[in-house]
Amino acid sequence: MNYGHFSEDGKEYIITNVKTPTPWINYIYNGEYFSTVSNNAGGISYIKSPLHGRITRYRINDVPSDRPGKYIYVKDEETGKFWTLSWQPAGADPGAYKVIHGLGYTAIESLVDGIHARVTYFVPMNNNHEVWNVVLTNKSGRKRRLSITGYVEFALGHGLIDLINQCDDQHFNRAYFDKNLNALFATKTYWVTETNGTQHQENKEWNQWAFFTSNLRINRYETLRERFLGFYNSEEKPVAITEDKFSNSAADYGNVVGAINVNLELESDQRENVIFSLGVLPKEHFDDKKKDIPKIVQPEYIEFSFKEIVNYWSEFLGHTKVETPDRNVNIFMNNWVPYQAKVAFDVGRVASYYYWGISRGYGFRDTSQDVIAVTIAHPEKAKERILLLSRQMFSDGRVYHHFYDDGKGELTRHCDDPGWYILAVTEYIKETGDYSILKEKVSFVDRQEGTVLDHLLAVVNFMKNNLGRHSLPVFGRGDWNDTLDYIGGDDGGESVWGAMFYVAMLNKLIELFQFLKVENLTEILKLRDEIRRNINQLCWDGDWFIRAFGNGGMVIGSNKSKEGKIFVNTQSWAAISNLPDKSKIRRALDSVKKHLDSEYGPKICAPAFKEIDPNIGLVTRCVPGKKENGAVFCHPVTWLIQAECIMRNGERAYDYFSKLLPNRVDSDIYQAEPYVYSQYITSDEHASPGKASHSWQTGTAAWMYRVFYDYIVGIRPDYDGLIVDPVIPTSWNYIRIERIFRGAKYIIEVENPDKVQSGISYILVDGKEIEGNKLPLTDKKICHVKVLMGKTIETANK
Ligand code: GLC
Repeated sequence: MNYGHFSEDGKEYIITNVKTPTPWINYIYNGEYFSTVSNNAGGISYIKSPLHGRITRYRINDVPSDRPGKYIYVKDEETGKFWTLSWQPAGADPGAYKVIHGLGYTAIESLVDGIHARVTYFVPMNNNHEVWNVVLTNKSGRKRRLSITGYVEFALGHGLIDLINQCDDQHFNRAYFDKNLNALFATKTYWVTETNGTQHQENKEWNQWAFFTSNLRINRYETLRERFLGFYNSEEKPVAITEDKFSNSAADYGNVVGAINVNLELESDQRENVIFSLGVLPKEHFDDKKKDIPKIVQPEYIEFSFKEIVNYWSEFLGHTKVETPDRNVNIFMNNWVPYQAKVAFDVGRVASYYYWGISRGYGFRDTSQDVIAVTIAHPEKAKERILLLSRQMFSDGRVYHHFYDDGKGELTRHCDDPGWYILAVTEYIKETGDYSILKEKVSFVDRQEGTVLDHLLAVVNFMKNNLGRHSLPVFGRGDWNDTLDYIGGDDGGESVWGAMFYVAMLNKLIELFQFLKVENLTEILKLRDEIRRNINQLCWDGDWFIRAFGNGGMVIGSNKSKEGKIFVNTQSWAAISNLPDKSKIRRALDSVKKHLDSEYGPKICAPAFKEIDPNIGLVTRCVPGKKENGAVFCHPVTWLIQAECIMRNGERAYDYFSKLLPNRVDSDIYQAEPYVYSQYITSDEHASPGKASHSWQTGTAAWMYRVFYDYIVGIRPDYDGLIVDPVIPTSWNYIRIERIFRGAKYIIEVENPDKVQSGISYILVDGKEIEGNKLPLTDKKICHVKVLMGKTIETANK
């Protein structure tokens, strides 16, 4: 069944049946203040970090699911009937609701008991609060007296401590109502951040005051959960609402909530605006700033801030635009994929319905890859992130696998982590031409002085020192695949994917250095050539490349293996790392098609592991067909698509691409949001195939965004121009792309009358034919490009 559809312009996803199989969420945020909102208004709010700055609670894996949230209760004062403006927790018939997830906002519409409501949730760009902007219209044909209550449950501080030590953490909760400012305030006077009881804990209080306010006069309020809900009740029937009982008293302990109640009379057909706002003020400026609270619930400010957030997203998305014959592709690539990629970059992959933001730091590998989502539109953000990553590196090139807001990090022995730094830096420079970043001074973890270039060289050094018995990368605790964590055993094992990855990243660095005419590249070239030779000589299994050498030389990912015979990554990266033997690459990719492709997309490996093998690791402990154990893991599919494009196979690339589009499968099977990618989809080796999970916070979005624009429509940045190299299905006779690059807008029209998959006959730039397939840099603001696909120019195969 379908639960919704895209709006005509593709910028909104409209949920018409709110009983979705899982919460379908959206993010509203401004880079400091973050909030998730599901189709039933469930979600968390936090400031800067979901671990340290948790404002509201969201109960982990509890029943009923998806609670609490940002709830608004409406009660008819005459009849006593009440409901919430979202179907959960106290809604009427689900048919009364419609949810609109937009880019930067979520709106919920309802028509209950003759009262039409539209509540729009969003976060203004420049103030740390969320707006719940309600427009109520009385359609009942009679005058109504309504009592309206906004409700949130506070966490106030450290998300994990709030879970594991509530009984003691509550002693420091305070909440009170300020009549003059018409706002309820809450904070915590002791900010415990150490999870181990005997550890030294700093003597400090939470650095924020949370506030909850309205544009209407607050008549009644409640500050304690037990008083608002009643001890044996839930959000479904709060006693404060059913029995009209608000204590109007402060809280100096316990489960602190914010419940603020306003009254509204509506004549027939009258429409009114009720605004609630939940936010935080830094404690150090509290006395100064709190005076401004009444200003941020004024309708003019709300209207202005909403426009600002809509414009922000339209500016971000305006850097790449595409028109293909496939409307669904256009909707995703113009809106939802870059949107998701940017959200994952900003959220740092730490908070979603699946990730609670309390146990994981920021992954070095994930964060580096997320950079490619923003180099095009917000290069300054990419640069900031590169510098942050630089500070997680030791002078010998090792990096913190995970790092945390408080500057701490975790050193592990993953072979790939440092390499991703090369991707982030080279992609940034290609996009911007900002070579000065190489000279930017930034410290290592263990050394004060250094430049970005020094960091790049440290990575090369790490690679050189991390080779095993076949001169391939020592596997250590894992490579991109975290769950191949015990392959290494005592001797470390070796990663064949890691080898291809090292070659690909060294290629990128060599390309940069050659462009900059850096002399004496002998060492880097020697390292790259040696690894490349070893892959070619030692890792070919006959029809595909093996995945790894385990402890003592055991082979993983071979036709001779019982399970996990073939892995996708060592086939796709054979192409991405540009291995010289093209016939092997072609054969390897054909093997992927034959052994890994499935109805729901190509699998990460097959057959899935059914027996636990402690010498391989976690992957074998996972249910077959799920996650890394043989699911359709979406992130590596993006690389497979890139590989097929590199090998000029547009049809197959497009087929894999289409299979992964999140709205392709029936939602009762797929379950996760149909407007964003999930991390994985259970495969045909699972008891219930086709079920997606871990939506939103996946590298799939950033990569799919880039692989689509860079390799399918084929417009990708290079140091000295924009490469044009479409690799498309033969059914696409026309594509139009707009791409902002180094200050110019390139409007590129591609025609494909001969129905080829790749190859270009000629390119006209502002009416003049150019040689080759690289659009030169220009001082013009707009550049019109016409491309005729056909067979003449040998397009750059890189
Ligand atoms: C998860 C991790 C990512 C890893 C992948 C495969 O997505 O966040 O770092 O590469 O799983 O194990």
